[in-house]
Amino acid sequence: MPLIAVLPGDGIGPEVTTQARRVLEALDLGLQFEEAPVGGAAYLVSGRPLPPETLTLAKRANAVLFGAIGDPRFEALERQLRPEAALLGIRRELGLFANIRPATLFPGLESATSLKPEAVAGLDIVIVRELVGDVYFGEKGRRHNAEGLRQGYDVMSYNEAEVERIARVGFEMAKRRKKKLCSVDKANVLETSQLWRDVVNEMSTQYPEIELTHMYVDNAAMQLVRQPNAFDVIVTGNLFGDILSDQASMCAGSIGMLPSASLRAWSGDNGMYEPIHGSAPDIAGQGKANPCAAILSAAMLLRHSLSDEASAQRVEKAVAGALAKGARTADLGGSLSTTEMGDAVLRELV
Ligand code: IPM
Ligand code: MG
Repeated sequence: MPLIAVLPGDGIGPEVTTQARRVLEALDLGLQFEEAPVGGAAYLVSGRPLPPETLTLAKRANAVLFGAIGDPRFEALERQLRPEAALLGIRRELGLFANIRPATLFPGLESATSLKPEAVAGLDIVIVRELVGDVYFGEKGRRHNAEGLRQGYDVMSYNEAEVERIARVGFEMAKRRKKKLCSVDKANVLETSQLWRDVVNEMSTQYPEIELTHMYVDNAAMQLVRQPNAFDVIVTGNLFGDILSDQASMCAGSIGMLPSASLRAWSGDNGMYEPIHGSAPDIAGQGKANPCAAILSAAMLLRHSLSDEASAQRVEKAVAGALAKGARTADLGGSLSTTEMGDAVLRELV
């Protein structure tokens, strides 16, 4: 019986995760669920954002269903005690180097975006973000410079093996789609990016069927709102991917619609699945959050960790069906509560 670790976390995390779990349970696949605290919620009960028992459960499980972390009450804590440390810790400890963030516009949500409907209609792109390297995990600290001024620093670096393994995920993803891969970097300024670009170019000879392009991140940010549909698969580093994926979410109607998978291999155990939105403390506990991103993350869990493509598609079709019938939470201009949106999806589960 596959074991799913449920880590609801902070803010709206528990609300949306509850709906995702309901959907998984309704599929009647004999899944077993075990829940554990993470982030600020874990800090409150144990003094640590990532208790060892939570990490052990995440490692032991076949997949992790993650809510969200982040709580303004803990912003002043030292970095390793803040909620974010838990998310970064799980990613690193589980070796989840490949973050898959699809941005798909469901029919009917064209007017929910702040872009022109014709610019985003039919949007279907995937951002493949490197997740355990870059400036996120480089040496960082504070020091005083020669003039005695306080200075903060975070070292950005990638080695060729790290670039190669994520680029391979990008090429493989493109192979299964429209065969277009755009590698995003800042090679005009950063040496880390130049190495990235060199490695991606070297690999392209193994993928003659893939049309490879390179784009500087500033230009990519512009193109993403100018003509998002010109992209198919984007592969990029940790920091650029963080920023571009939030931006892409706006092309898809709402950040409440975007799921993600964090993987250490294309398929198999130990993936982690989470909505890309954060804990949204401003609306936490009010039943207003859109559970679709969490539910679609559960679909990705079925696809990647349980190799159950049929069930994944059932869930995705149920979300599309609910939206087609007009089900909308507040972020999409509607008035359904989190639970009512979950109900609407469950009704469509055929
Ligand atoms: C994300 C989030 C995280 C990140 C934060 C919460 C650490 O923004 O998953 O995109 O920066 O990776
Ligand atoms: Mg982010």
